[in-house]
Amino acid sequence: MNPLEGKKLIVAVTGGVAAYKAAELVRLLGKAGADVHVVLTRGGARFVTAVTFQALSGNPVWEDLWDARMPNNMAHIDLSRDADAIVIAPASADVIAKLVHGLADDLLTTMCLARDCPLLVAPAMNRQMWEHPATRRNVACLNADGAVVLGPDAGEQACGETGLGRLLEPEALCEQVIGFFAPKLLAGRKVVLTAGPTFEAIDPVRGITNISSGKMGYALALACARAGAQVELVSGPTGLAAPAGVHRTAVNSALQMRDAVLAVLPGTDVFVGVAAVADYAPASVAEHKIKKTQGEMVVTLTPNPDIIAEVAARDDAPFCVGFAAESQDLDRYAEGKRQAKKLQLVVGNLVQDGMGRDDNQIILYDAAGRHPLPRAHKSVLAQLIVEHFASLLAAYLEARTGV
Ligand code: C5P
Repeated sequence: MNPLEGKKLIVAVTGGVAAYKAAELVRLLGKAGADVHVVLTRGGARFVTAVTFQALSGNPVWEDLWDARMPNNMAHIDLSRDADAIVIAPASADVIAKLVHGLADDLLTTMCLARDCPLLVAPAMNRQMWEHPATRRNVACLNADGAVVLGPDAGEQACGETGLGRLLEPEALCEQVIGFFAPKLLAGRKVVLTAGPTFEAIDPVRGITNISSGKMGYALALACARAGAQVELVSGPTGLAAPAGVHRTAVNSALQMRDAVLAVLPGTDVFVGVAAVADYAPASVAEHKIKKTQGEMVVTLTPNPDIIAEVAARDDAPFCVGFAAESQDLDRYAEGKRQAKKLQLVVGNLVQDGMGRDDNQIILYDAAGRHPLPRAHKSVLAQLIVEHFASLLAAYLEARTGV
């Protein structure tokens, strides 16, 4: 069944040229089974009229905080009460700033503050506005407050400039909203994940590490929790907050990560190794800061254990999902890694496509072959990865127990 079947969605349209795409989005969401109700801000109404949205949604359009059509005159409360989500598309820089600060000076912002349903926000603005430190702060805050940020896309903008800030295309947006409503596929399952980098100390102030934001691992942990799993996240150092519904163990080194994984492994159905584990660690850690005056410094490195390979080699191995971030030849390296480490699934991406970004372009590799996914926000990709391994899980676990 389509996840949007029977869902009530509020699509809010704010002021921006991309408002024209919202018309198509409303049509597509309706086609996918949702009951769509449009809220139009004053700015949004300058670009596309309520008539268009009423015709496409088949429902009255709401523009005013004081709309007398609501018997109790409380549109800001009643509209969202039985809604499954509010989708703001396009979301201007202005409305994002207002949401972050809890302003409530029109129907949309008041409704968002009073809502008890998820909020999906699809930004659209000039690339300089998107890159501005104020917008960066606001978007980070919006994420931390639990909103799902969809996009933006990169490309040519209405102003003639080129860069990040375009509203996602209506088809991609609709796809992401559908992904958001994916069902509880991991109910009763236990999932252990590693995420982030590891930090291998040289002395009290220095160390070697890998570049990893932890975003994909945290998004996957959240997606597993949303899918109903008990989730243990073993995380190297990141600046990210533990996702809702996830138990996190914080570690620094690969050895600590391995120990923490083995401690929570009993009873695990799925192990997902997202962490960028350092392949080597200094053979010994200096007790005191090594002084520059000591001249040339030589650090002897010893290999770290391969955590996922060790987990996958166990007799009671869970379903193992590895990651392969490569800079070239993705198919060969990712599939090679899957076979060498005896993993059931490998999520491959080119580092230049996703490193540190909120979105990524990935390909899944399993025993049946390669499965490319569309470029999407990491939270949406996480959902798609979960759907993929959940579909293979029962057969794997049955074979493992010999049922
Ligand atoms: O071999 P490579 O490091 O590219 O493999 C990446 C995959 O292996 C990821 O899933 C990563 O989390 C896992 N890995 C691990 N322990 C290591 C190195 C990598 O679990 N020491």
